[in-house]
Amino acid sequence: MKIFLDTANLKEIREAAVLGVVDGITTNPSLLARESGDPEQILVEICKTVDGPISGEVVATDAEGMVQEGRHLASLHKNIVVKVPCITEGLKATKVLAGEGKRVNMTLIFSPSQALLAAKAGARYVSPFVGRLDDISTEGMALVADIIEIFDHYDFDCEVLAASLRGPMHVVEAAKMGADVGTMPASVFASLLKHPLTDSGLKRFLDDWEKAKALLAAKVG
Ligand code: E4P
Repeated sequence: MKIFLDTANLKEIREAAVLGVVDGITTNPSLLARESGDPEQILVEICKTVDGPISGEVVATDAEGMVQEGRHLASLHKNIVVKVPCITEGLKATKVLAGEGKRVNMTLIFSPSQALLAAKAGARYVSPFVGRLDDISTEGMALVADIIEIFDHYDFDCEVLAASLRGPMHVVEAAKMGADVGTMPASVFASLLKHPLTDSGLKRFLDDWEKAKALLAAKVG
């Protein structure tokens, strides 16, 4: 599964990118609004930091406006993927942008039927929001499973991007299901590597090593 970070924070992105396992970035207007600086410049800087798909979202709500914004965003850098909300106008815009060869990430997907239409319109990614469904007592991961099952029957050139992942087990479940991509905040990404037994195990190895060296030195000396 490809790992994307869901953040527009350059410090977080730089710190994670050096690990060599971050494949792309998703941003949204809320994430960009949290950062200081020009959103377009931030997007370009992210593109220079991570050489993979970088989603930048349109804020127009009519198809024509979305297409104009999408063209502009795509012109900023070759890595930009245009993020478009899954509404009627978004579907129209996706068809046009995909027809021009631009990659579209159809976002705010909360049902399998939305994902099916997004794929048919030519979206390169569909983003089902797992955490936001969990927030309203609905099994978010079941949506990811449904979309994967539907896409398995067809030949869509569309990747399932599990979004709104809120913890490490969301990431593991998405990977077990075979989601193409999982996008997560930097804090969730950091938690993927952590295990107390790894830390205590390493400490014991190093302590034993030091003790053995001290014993050997005492024998030789
Ligand atoms: C995905 O592209 C969205 O930016 C994101 O995953 C939303 O996550 P949230 O529901 O935690 O805000």
